[in-house]
Amino acid sequence: MKLGPRVAIIATLLMAAVLAAAMGSVLVVLRGDQLADLDREAHALADAIVMGLEPLPADRAGLAMKARVAAVAKAGGEFRLEAVAWGGQRPNNSWAGLVEEATKLDAPVGRLFDLRGIPPFYAMAIPLHNAAPGEPKRQVVAFLGLVRDGGFINQDLLASAKRLLPLLGVFVAGFAVAVYVMLMRRVATPLRRLVDAIDGASKGDLSRAVLPERDDEIGSLAGRFNAMMNYLREAREKEARATAARVATEAHLRHAEKLATVGQMAAEIAHEVGTPLNVIGGRARTLARRSSEQAEVEKNAEIISTQVDRITKSISQVLDYSRKNRPTTGEVDVAKTVRDTLEFVEEDLKKHKIEVALTCEPELRPIPGNADEIQQVCLNLIMNAVHAMAGGGKLGVVIEYVIRRKEGLDLAPPAPYLMIAIADTGPGVPQEDRARIFEAFFTTKDKGEGTGLGLAVSHGIVKDHDGFMEVGDSPGGGAVFRVFLPLPSERESDQAKPDATPPPQPVA
Ligand SMILES: Nc1ncnc2c1ncn2[C@@H]1O[C@H](COP(=O)(O)OP(=O)(O)OP(=O)(O)O)[C@@H](O)[C@H]1O
Ligand SMILES: [Mg+2]
Repeated sequence: MKLGPRVAIIATLLMAAVLAAAMGSVLVVLRGDQLADLDREAHALADAIVMGLEPLPADRAGLAMKARVAAVAKAGGEFRLEAVAWGGQRPNNSWAGLVEEATKLDAPVGRLFDLRGIPPFYAMAIPLHNAAPGEPKRQVVAFLGLVRDGGFINQDLLASAKRLLPLLGVFVAGFAVAVYVMLMRRVATPLRRLVDAIDGASKGDLSRAVLPERDDEIGSLAGRFNAMMNYLREAREKEARATAARVATEAHLRHAEKLATVGQMAAEIAHEVGTPLNVIGGRARTLARRSSEQAEVEKNAEIISTQVDRITKSISQVLDYSRKNRPTTGEVDVAKTVRDTLEFVEEDLKKHKIEVALTCEPELRPIPGNADEIQQVCLNLIMNAVHAMAGGGKLGVVIEYVIRRKEGLDLAPPAPYLMIAIADTGPGVPQEDRARIFEAFFTTKDKGEGTGLGLAVSHGIVKDHDGFMEVGDSPGGGAVFRVFLPLPSERESDQAKPDATPPPQPVA
């Protein structure tokens, strides 16, 4: 049961008990008053009877009393008389107690008798004397009994209680309603609003102004709550500002880092471009000299074309690396991108006798990103795998949804990603090189074979897509490169599988 009704019921029950006790006390006082009135009336009547009968000679006492009893009975009325004792006639048991007391006091003694099993009645024993007060021979010669039915007292009290009860009911009901309304308005409603606000806050809504501040406990609770909300709101805004500033600084630093690398690149370029240019120059001159020899022309043209391709590749990689972050708007059908890339390198795969196994999540949805850039990442990774398996091998490509915690963000909650894993059966990446392979110009290939920019460029692209990359050991014996690209919304996360995705297996 809720607080409002519960407190209202308890308060009403207490109030009803207090009122019932008060009503009981009033009835007791009323009963006492009625008894006193009855006693006074009986004494007045006894005085009148005594005055009419005294002095009463002992020998006439019986007759005189009976005559008076008969006269009173005849007159009717609420009281009746009884001749209780005279001469040799002793009082019966029911009168004995009153007669004894009246004898001791030498005065009328009356009392209400409310005995079990018989209706209540009032009885008074009246002593009668044989002489006037003050005379030496005066003594009690007889006792008259005065009796009245006492049931009317209880009936009157019952009638009073019946008149009071409806009033009591109305009062208690009014009190209950007043307590309930007051509790709802002053306590339950403000508390409910406070609970709503706490629920809202737990869901991230810190904007609620809860209650007007009041000068009581609930008011101070609301005041503290509002202060806490303000504090949380400010803290959240501060954190958002700090995060935005950090992201901007990181972007600047990354770009600055790249520009610094571009300087280093200039020297590499001089070598990368200079050597093929020398070759091209020499071959072009040979071509000019021996243009009549068909075989010589074809050979030199081929060499010139290869060297130009080399220069073009170097230049395009340098451009890729030094470019400013481009927005990654657009959509990428990752399965199609991977298939297209495998088609591009079909010739190389055949040449090196590499078998391919592609496993793809069914019903893959497009993810936000730049399709050309993702294709470049796939191409770099596949070409690296091809280079690692120059003597033949197996290339396993897996595309699937996973739930992962971003590397280095141990406190961040795990999030859904689309993973592209490319595994080969080459020699793998030695542990000591793993920290460096994503650096620009890190290469283990011979001069002219690789610039060491493929993974650096790929890493940059994946980072621009808010994703991350990792390298590991493939159970097939070679290396496995995994690319994690974030999914656009929670909808897709429903399809994601928990962590611990086994690395893709090259074809058996
Ligand atoms: N699948 C792989 N197996 C073994 N080693 C690899 C693999 N992929 C990359 N590496 C190592 O990482 C290094 C850096 O690779 P990266 O692609 O950045 O440059 P590169 O392939 O050497 O040159 P390029 O600029 O032509 O791509 C490689 O030289 C190689 O030592
Ligand atoms: Mg490479």
